Amino acid sequence: MIRANENYSKLKASYLFSDIAKRVNEYQAKNPEAHIIRLGIGDVVKALVPAVIEGFHRGVDEMAKDASFRGYGPEQGYLFLREKIAENDYHAQGADISPDEIFVSDGAKCDTGNFQELFAPDIKVAIPDPVYPVYLDTNVMAGRTGGFEDGRYGGIVYMDCLKENHFLPALPREKVDLIYLCFPNNPTGSTATKDELKVWVDYARENKALILFDAAYEAYIRDPDLPRTIYEIDGAREVAVEFRSFSKTAGFTGTRCGFTVVPKDCMIYSAKGEKISLHSMWNRRHTTKFNGVSYPVQKATEAVYSEEGKRQIKEQIAYYLNNADVIRKTVESLGFDYVGGKNSPYIWVDGKGRDSWEFFNLLLTQASVVCTPGAGFGRCGRHYIRISAFNSLENVTLAMERIKEALK
Ligand code: MLT
Repeated sequence: MIRANENYSKLKASYLFSDIAKRVNEYQAKNPEAHIIRLGIGDVVKALVPAVIEGFHRGVDEMAKDASFRGYGPEQGYLFLREKIAENDYHAQGADISPDEIFVSDGAKCDTGNFQELFAPDIKVAIPDPVYPVYLDTNVMAGRTGGFEDGRYGGIVYMDCLKENHFLPALPREKVDLIYLCFPNNPTGSTATKDELKVWVDYARENKALILFDAAYEAYIRDPDLPRTIYEIDGAREVAVEFRSFSKTAGFTGTRCGFTVVPKDCMIYSAKGEKISLHSMWNRRHTTKFNGVSYPVQKATEAVYSEEGKRQIKEQIAYYLNNADVIRKTVESLGFDYVGGKNSPYIWVDGKGRDSWEFFNLLLTQASVVCTPGAGFGRCGRHYIRISAFNSLENVTLAMERIKEALK
C-alpha cells in the first residue's frame, strides 16, 4: 500500500498565495466589470531591462549554432556568473565569498524550502512570526513540527516580531539549532543593522547553531549604513547561509534565477559531534537533485552585472520604491501605523484592531484592491495587512485613491 507523508495533513489546505488567488478569482468571476489592482503577492510588472534582454538574446543565439551550443552545464552555475556575483555582491561589500561558495539556482523559494533537508529531523527550529510561509511549511512537511493549534505548529520556537520590538526578533529563550532570518524583511519590510545582526551571528557561534539568512530584498536597501549581506558581520562565514534572488532585484519572477551562498567555513555536526562540511552536503544535494539553470537565463543574469545592467536595474528598483513612498504617504494620511516601504517593497500596515482577512475582504470588495492578510504570515500578523509596491505607478496611485474612498 502506497502511504502518504502524513505531515502534509498538518498543513493548511493551500499555500497562502494560492488561497488568495482563488478568492480573488472568485470575486472577479462574480464581478466581471471590476478592475482589480493586485498589491498582494510580490510579483513584478516591469519588463526585463534592455541589458538583460540583450544578454538573453546572446545566450539564445549561442544555443542556435552547433559550435557554441551548450548541453548540461555545471549544476552549481557557470563560472562566468558566479565570478560576477562574488565580485559585485560580496567583494564590493568587503565580504570574503569565493565563486565556488555560490550555488546558482532557479530561485530563492526553492532553496529556502529545500535547505532544511540537510538537517536532522529533531533539531530545534526558530522561525519569526510573521514569516514568509515557505520556511515554516517545508519544516512541517519534513516532520519537524507537531499539529497546528491556535495559529501555531507545535515544536517550533516562534520569535514574535511586534511593534514593541520594532519587528526585530529577540534571541529565543530556549536553545535553538536552526534560525531563519530575512532582512529587509518579508512581510514587514523591517531592516536590521550590523549590530543587530551581530547578536545573531554571536549566538549561532556560541551555540553551534546555523542561520539561514534570506536576503532576497537586498536591492531595495536605500540606507547606506545597513548591511547588504550577512557576511559583512565578522564570523558569519562560520554560521550563516545566504539566499539571494534575481526575482525582485532584476524582475526575474517569470525568468527564474537566484543563488545560495554556503561558505566553506560552515560546519554542522553528526550525532557524535563530529564536524561535517555544509558546503559539501549542499553540493551533494544540489548536484543530485538539480541540473542547473538554463544557459540563456544565466547569460541574462550575467548582464545584470554589466555597467548598463546595473544602471537600468537601479532605475527599476527606484520606480518600485517610489510606489512604496506613495503607499506609505497614503497609509500615513489615513492614520494607520506602518513599518517598511523605505528599504523594502512591502508596507506592513496595522489595521487598528481589524481582523486581517476582514481587512483584506473590505479592500477587495470596496476598492477592488488586493493586499495580503497578515494572518497568512503568522499569528502576529492577524491585525495587519501587507501592501506590495510591485505594480505600475498608475495602478498604485489609483489603488490608493480607492482605498482612501473606501475607508472614508
Ligand atoms: C511574496 O509575495 O511574499 C513573494 O513574492 C513570494 C515569493 O517570492 O515567493
